[in-house]
Amino acid sequence: MKRLIQSVLGIKKNKAKNFQKKRATVSSLDIFAKTVLLRTDFNVPINNGKIKNNFKIKQSIPTIKELLKQKCKVVIISHLGRPNGKFNQKYSLAPVAKELAKLLPKRTIHFSKHCIGSDVKEMIKKAKKGQIILLENLRFYKEEAERDLTFAHSLADLASAYVFDAFAVSHRRHTSTTLLPAFLPSAEGLLVQDEVGTLNSAMQVKKGSVWVIGGSKLDKINIIKSALKHAEKVFVGGALVFSFLRAKGIHVGHSKISRESVKAAKEILKQEDAKNLILSTDAVVSNSLQKNAKHATVPVTEIPSGSIGLDIGLKSTEQLIKTVSNAKQVIWNGPLGFIENTSYRKSSIALIKVLAKSNARTIVGGGETIELIMKQKVQNKITHLSTGGGATLAFLSKRSLPALDALAKSAKKFNLV
Ligand code: 3PG
Repeated sequence: MKRLIQSVLGIKKNKAKNFQKKRATVSSLDIFAKTVLLRTDFNVPINNGKIKNNFKIKQSIPTIKELLKQKCKVVIISHLGRPNGKFNQKYSLAPVAKELAKLLPKRTIHFSKHCIGSDVKEMIKKAKKGQIILLENLRFYKEEAERDLTFAHSLADLASAYVFDAFAVSHRRHTSTTLLPAFLPSAEGLLVQDEVGTLNSAMQVKKGSVWVIGGSKLDKINIIKSALKHAEKVFVGGALVFSFLRAKGIHVGHSKISRESVKAAKEILKQEDAKNLILSTDAVVSNSLQKNAKHATVPVTEIPSGSIGLDIGLKSTEQLIKTVSNAKQVIWNGPLGFIENTSYRKSSIALIKVLAKSNARTIVGGGETIELIMKQKVQNKITHLSTGGGATLAFLSKRSLPALDALAKSAKKFNLV
C-alpha cells in the first residue's frame, strides 16, 4: 500500500523528506468559475449544537472570500473532533454551516450529510457559482485517517482544484491532508500563508525565546525535544509535566500520563539541553474532576496517591511569569491547567495578563488557549494567534509538516511553481 501511495504521489522511497517546499498559492490556480475543494480546519468547540468559539472559522473567511470573488463553487471539507470513523451527531458540522451563513450573510450555504457519492455530486451540480457547499465531517469516514486512495479519488472527483487552508491539521498524515493534493492541482490558502510566514520568522529567534507548552494531549511530548533546540527556555505545564515528573521518579497520583509519554520524557531528560526545561514545582490537585470538588496546592513531590494534578501551583506560576517577563519572544501552546473547570484557570489567566502587557513578540496557539484569551478580551494584545495546536508546535520544531510537503509535491506535479 505504501508503495502504491508513493507511486501515486510520484515520489521515490526516502526522497520525500528532501522535497523542496515550494508551494502554490490560490493565484497560481486556474479556477475562475470552477468548482474548488477547500480543506479547512473547522474543528471548533461545540456544546449542545452551539459553537463556543468561531475563531478558526473566521480565520478561513479570507480564503473563502477569495474563491468566491473568482466565482467558484466552493466545496468545503473539514474534520471535527475525533469520531473514529463513525457517524456521531456530537461531531456533526451542521452547526458550522449555520455559523458560515452568519459570517457570510449574502451567500448561500448548502450542507451535505455525506462527503462522497452521487448525492453530493448532485448537490454540487445544482449549486450555483459563488455558492458554498459544506460537506459533513471527514472523520465520519475511517478512510480519512487511513490514507485511503479510493477515498482521495472520490473526493478529488468533486472539483477541479484543491485549496488547503487547514493549517491546524497539517501535521496529520490523513487522506485529505496528504493524499488529495496528488490528485488535483493544489495550493495553500491565505490562512496557511499567514501562519507559515509568521511562524517562520519566529523561528529565527533563539536567544530570549521562551516556549510554554501545556495542554492535555500527551502526544505533544516529542515536540519538546526539538523545542529545546530552538528556545532558550522551555516551560512545561498542563498534563505533560506529570510525565516528566514521573520520569524523574516522582509519584504523580492519578495525573494524566501514559507509558509512552513517560518513556519519551525519560529520553528528553537525558539530553544535554534538558537543563533549559522548567518543570513546575507545585501543583493544584483534586481527587475528582467534578466541578465543585475540593482542591489543594501541594509540592509536586507530595501529590497524594489518589489525586489528579489539574493546574500548576502559585510558586510555579510566579516562576513562569518571571521567565516570560524577561523574554523577547514567547511562544505558548496549550493551557497550563484543566481550564474547562474555572478552579484550574488561575495560572493560564495570569500568563495571559502578563503576555497582554508584554513588549515581547507573543505567539499563542491551541483552541482552548485562544478561547481563554478571547474571554479575557485581550486578543488584540497578542502578536499572533495561531489556529494550530500540535501543528504550530510541529512547525516551530522544524519538523516537516506532511500536508505542506504534499502541497509542494502537487505544485511541482501540476507545474504550478
Ligand atoms: C487541532 O485542533 O489541533 C486540529 O484540528 C487537529 O486535531 P486532531 O489533534 O484531532 O488531529
